[in-house]
Amino acid sequence: MDPKDRIIFALDVPSLSEAEKYAGMLKDHVGVFKVGLELFVACGPAVIEAVKKSGQGIFLDMKFHDIPETVRGAMRSASALGAEFITVHCDEGGALLKAAVEGNTGSAKVLGVTVLTSLSDESLKEIGIDTNKYRTPLDLVLHRARLAKLAGCAGVVCSGHEVDSVKNEFGPDFIVVTPGIRSSGDAVGDQKRVVTPYEAIYNGADYIVVGRPIRKAHDPRKAAELIAREIGKALKDRRGD
Ligand code: C5P
Repeated sequence: MDPKDRIIFALDVPSLSEAEKYAGMLKDHVGVFKVGLELFVACGPAVIEAVKKSGQGIFLDMKFHDIPETVRGAMRSASALGAEFITVHCDEGGALLKAAVEGNTGSAKVLGVTVLTSLSDESLKEIGIDTNKYRTPLDLVLHRARLAKLAGCAGVVCSGHEVDSVKNEFGPDFIVVTPGIRSSGDAVGDQKRVVTPYEAIYNGADYIVVGRPIRKAHDPRKAAELIAREIGKALKDRRGD
């Protein structure tokens, strides 16, 4: 896989025309386009068709979160759209994750979202987590990744701080996608558990999700190129050559 193919660019824009603009601009610089809630709610399945014309894969980031039967149906509808990846939240447990996997009648890889990268150690208490049992986001990520693995998910989404542990525990074939990517000069925004592209890939992530650091760059293509270069270096260092 070429280093740039490991970049999932987040199309966090509100219209079809903007999505098409970025897909056209970045199709040779990233491997996958992520269609998330903002864009899908605004445009519906038409945006998937439009972005697919770039020739790159689609990461349909629906982060499904409902009762199992509803998620099974939503996944059935979503998987018919021809995305390469579709996401579901892990925090409602195994029954929901199993329903998501069963509802996937297409060829998408179902990924479980473990703990959002916008959450910190302090957020765990606020969202009702027993912090005696799960002291850090890592403890919770590993617990949720286990549920995802048992339910038959192809992998998980987690921060670059947890990738290493997830890969060690669940093996190299369990896909890990890492958002919350920032280089040293980037604004962090709402993200909390951030790492650089180099760190995420060096720690074992298969893909990184990058939105604002490319979208808000003066030259988005150049920003993507620099990230691909960092990915290449991290892969090389991991192999030890
Ligand atoms: O790079 P930037 O922070 O702009 O990218 C954020 C993107 O990553 C958003 O589309 C968000 O939905 C996604 N994401 C995340 N944390 C997760 C899963 C997805 O930030 N755990």
